[in-house]
Amino acid sequence: MSTSATTLIRLESIHKFFQTGLTNVHALDGIDLTINENEFFAILGPSGSGKSTLLHVIGCLTSPSKGTYLLNGSDVSGLGQWNLAQVRNHTFGFVFQSFSLLSSLNVLDNVCVPLIYGRIHRKERHRLARDVIGQVGLSHREHHFPGQLSGGEQQRVAIARALVSNPSVILADEPTGNLDSASGDEIMRILKTLQKQGRTVIIVTHDEHIAQNAQREIHIVDGQISVKGQK
Ligand SMILES: Nc1ncnc2c1ncn2[C@@H]1O[C@H](COP(=O)(O)OP(=O)(O)OP(=O)(O)O)[C@@H](O)[C@H]1O
Ligand SMILES: [Mg+2]
Repeated sequence: MSTSATTLIRLESIHKFFQTGLTNVHALDGIDLTINENEFFAILGPSGSGKSTLLHVIGCLTSPSKGTYLLNGSDVSGLGQWNLAQVRNHTFGFVFQSFSLLSSLNVLDNVCVPLIYGRIHRKERHRLARDVIGQVGLSHREHHFPGQLSGGEQQRVAIARALVSNPSVILADEPTGNLDSASGDEIMRILKTLQKQGRTVIIVTHDEHIAQNAQREIHIVDGQISVKGQK
């Protein structure tokens, strides 16, 4: 059996500039990084250091201003919005600190949202959604609305929504940032299970305790990698 790792993400000299009015922010300043398939990877760093920007570039939510991004060996750095969205929808599932659920939809319908634009029949959408809702242990909350759930439960719904399109990579930006430590631990347990199932999991956190769940971590300061660590 081969133990050699397969490269999933390769960033070469990635820069990201934001121009707002007269101010030019250099949010990413020459990032070189390789992430392998099936890794549990953590991105740490102080507020404003560029963590979310890096995650957005990795997740094809935005293109780098300069540099090369190879995803599964294909260059995605120069793709336009439409092509970028195709890559994004097929590859990545996103989890955010603020859960980002739609308050007027119940759990089942929230989890169905990413499937609405595909050509999947309503019955099949519900079947797929129920499957992932079961995976995060919320089958008994299917008809609840976000406002009727605890923070930890809302984040589990957000994870189910990220999973419903069966992405190979889960990107989570401070997924435990709004949670008490017990709920945070539960979310990390779920993310670890997803990695054991074969997915790649990349999390942004400022919390060393949370980062200990990862196999490898980098620290970012002022848009540059300051430390690379292997567990
Ligand atoms: N859309 C944008 N337009 C202009 N500047 C931006 C934009 N997004 C981020 N920035 C700037 O880029 C820098 C990096 O921001 P980023 O959100 O990546 O930081 P972060 O490390 O995720 O911080 P936090 O821990 O507070 O979430 C910051 O100085 C921020 O103000
Ligand atoms: Mg951030």
